[in-house]
Amino acid sequence: MAQAPVNVTVTGAAGAIGYALLFRIASGQLLGADTPVRLRLLEIPQAVKAAEGTAMELDDCAFPLLAGVDITDNAKQAFDGVNVALLVGARPRSKGMERGDLLEANGGIFKPQGEAINAGAASDVKVLVVGNPANTNALIAQQHAPDVPAERFTAMTRLDHNRALSQLATKLGVAVTDISKMSIWGNHSATQYPDLFHAQVNGRSAAEQVDHAWLEETFIPTVAKRGAAIIEARGASSAASAANAAVDHVYDWVHGTDDWTSAGVVSDGSYGVPEGLISSFPVVARDGKYEIVQGLDIDEFSRARIDASVRELSEERDAVAKLGLV
Ligand code: NAD
Ligand code: LMR
Repeated sequence: MAQAPVNVTVTGAAGAIGYALLFRIASGQLLGADTPVRLRLLEIPQAVKAAEGTAMELDDCAFPLLAGVDITDNAKQAFDGVNVALLVGARPRSKGMERGDLLEANGGIFKPQGEAINAGAASDVKVLVVGNPANTNALIAQQHAPDVPAERFTAMTRLDHNRALSQLATKLGVAVTDISKMSIWGNHSATQYPDLFHAQVNGRSAAEQVDHAWLEETFIPTVAKRGAAIIEARGASSAASAANAAVDHVYDWVHGTDDWTSAGVVSDGSYGVPEGLISSFPVVARDGKYEIVQGLDIDEFSRARIDASVRELSEERDAVAKLGLV
């Protein structure tokens, strides 16, 4: 018998990332070329019509793997039976706006969505939060889904990971495939720490192949502030590269990884990151689970940066706790 379709829900489906993401999901790039998918698009009422337009275009692609598209403004319906939930819908940061300003605006969105996932998701549900502030939005959703294993809630730092690969490859004149063990620690924000001390290029330490001034003064800030640089250049938040990273994150989660990658996952206290925070770590995917890479030595330089980003995550958690969201 043919495989039953996997239910994939995308929130913010009428937005810029949604537009770049849906066609890749429907073509089989998210779950593999043998896996049929049924799409559920969740939007706010004002954007349902635009989502319907995107669904018309999906129809017009005649994707062999697309088993259907449902559109709704009701979170309960959107997440009923969901296997893969991509929480993209949020308010993007505009010029001059700090991510902290987004906490209150976006926090309210992720509480009802977490509750709806708790109420209706399939037992194997996997959740990726893309909408910013992604780590803390993921925490809010996770906290309102007490019946779902916490490890199923993740936040996207794969775009930062891919940015780090690309910057390092360009600097050293190597292919991105020559790089292994890249990792992003902490928050998906300007405090994140892209780590070259564990990364390798052709099997040798990346940090030893670049000068320290470039690592500290160019590499780290370029990766960490890339989102803001894209907003400055495009006048809008990254969209196609964010959709690409979401595809990478879910594909690897489902299919497993050989190399390390980066994902915001619920901390088990590893590396001094307070338990329960959703922080980016070096991870591998095995048997449908992201696992934190264990046993790494963290030098003083890295420690200070990881601590700073984790401190910001703790502050975000405190801020949403004050709003009664966690
Ligand atoms: P966008 O404004 O183009 O689209 C957002 C969509 O979400 C809109 O269509 C809006 O109607 C919808 N929406 C708002 N509230 C909703 C709700 N409660 N339920 C369902 N839909 C809702 O924005 P975008 O460019 O697609 O970006 C989406 C989010 O992704 C932003 O928060 C952005 O900052 C974030 N982002 C994250 C990363 C990352 O690496 N984690 C990268 C890029 C962008
Ligand atoms: C990005 O990293 O491109 C985005 O998260 C930036 C943003 O704030 O929307």
